[in-house]
Amino acid sequence: MEFKVTPWDVEGLVDYDKLIKEFGTSPLTEELLEKTKELTKSELPFYLKRKFFFSHRDYDLVLKDYEEGKGFFLYTGRGPSGPMHIGHIIPFYATRWFQEKFGVNLYVQITDDEKFLFKPNLTFEDTKKWAYENILDIIAVGFDPDKTFIFQDSEFTKIYEMAIPIAKKVTYSMAKAVFGFTEQSKIGMIFYPAIQAAPTFFEERRSLIPAAIDQDPYWRIQRDFAESLGYYKTAAIHSKFVPPLTGLEGKMSASKPETAIYLTDSPEEIRQKIWKYAVTGGQPTVKEQREKGGNPEKCVVFKWLEIFFEPDDKALLERYTKCKSGELLCGECKRYLIEKVQAFLKEHQRRREEAKETIEKFKYTGKLAKEQWDKAIPEPLRK
Ligand code: TRP
Repeated sequence: MEFKVTPWDVEGLVDYDKLIKEFGTSPLTEELLEKTKELTKSELPFYLKRKFFFSHRDYDLVLKDYEEGKGFFLYTGRGPSGPMHIGHIIPFYATRWFQEKFGVNLYVQITDDEKFLFKPNLTFEDTKKWAYENILDIIAVGFDPDKTFIFQDSEFTKIYEMAIPIAKKVTYSMAKAVFGFTEQSKIGMIFYPAIQAAPTFFEERRSLIPAAIDQDPYWRIQRDFAESLGYYKTAAIHSKFVPPLTGLEGKMSASKPETAIYLTDSPEEIRQKIWKYAVTGGQPTVKEQREKGGNPEKCVVFKWLEIFFEPDDKALLERYTKCKSGELLCGECKRYLIEKVQAFLKEHQRRREEAKETIEKFKYTGKLAKEQWDKAIPEPLRK
């Protein structure tokens, strides 16, 4: 089956090399990773080393700006349409690494407006409720409260004023070509891309957006008009998708509980879901597994370990070899993954509880939050 990647839908087995060509982005090269290591004076996190982030736009220029002292800022976001799962949170952990190592500001856009407009079955009350829940998960990742501003579109209405000059730059035919709008699309959906582009103008230097590659169409449009408004084209660094428990195709879906582990799942739910639904590359019987060995390439359990839950390169390779040789059985790998996910979520959930006390800071009273609430609309956008 051919694969498909849009901001709303990911289907099939994604060929990431092909996607780079289709989207016109650039591969994240060893050279850029080396440079990152050099500038941050740090070991790279394994999700960069193992190419979970695999593609970019202008990341080379971001590093250059940093080196020359101009700096840059980070921007990412979340559409609050339901509970967050493992696939949603990994890019945020990567974003935290960038914030920590480069010491830069981060803006997180929570699009309660977008999800209300795009999801027929959600009320505005629903998306606002999910905004609160999702923000707790985002804070739990451990961002610096003085360098992070988390804002909700329906509250931080300055975003609307910033979107207006943008909306004057984008024609319907452009938006239609990129997003596939039709005669039936609601007019709010057609305006929305201007809202998602606006945060790239929060500072007068380059923004770097770490996010899954399905969001790239928004950045493509931003890069078309940014310079005509006196701003930088945004840079981006793109991640792959975390496969659903139920197979390597598509991405985890918040609306199909068996495909995903939610960040609020209990240890018992984690155990049951992985045990019952996780698809492995194992043989039908133990005897065959011992003789022929398994297929780690086809195994979701192995993929999850590779992407996020086994930081130790040596241990990962050993698991690969032992699976191939038939020494390991699928049950053992599942048990190992269950423990890893339980331990990770136990800590995440503890920090999520604490976030209830610090949410004010991130949204309103922290240094960066206050700065943005008090700031006038940037000069270039007022002309
Ligand atoms: N459209 C995104 C979603 O549906 C939310 C979003 C807004 C976002 N701004 C972003 C995601 C910037 C990544 C980066 O989840």
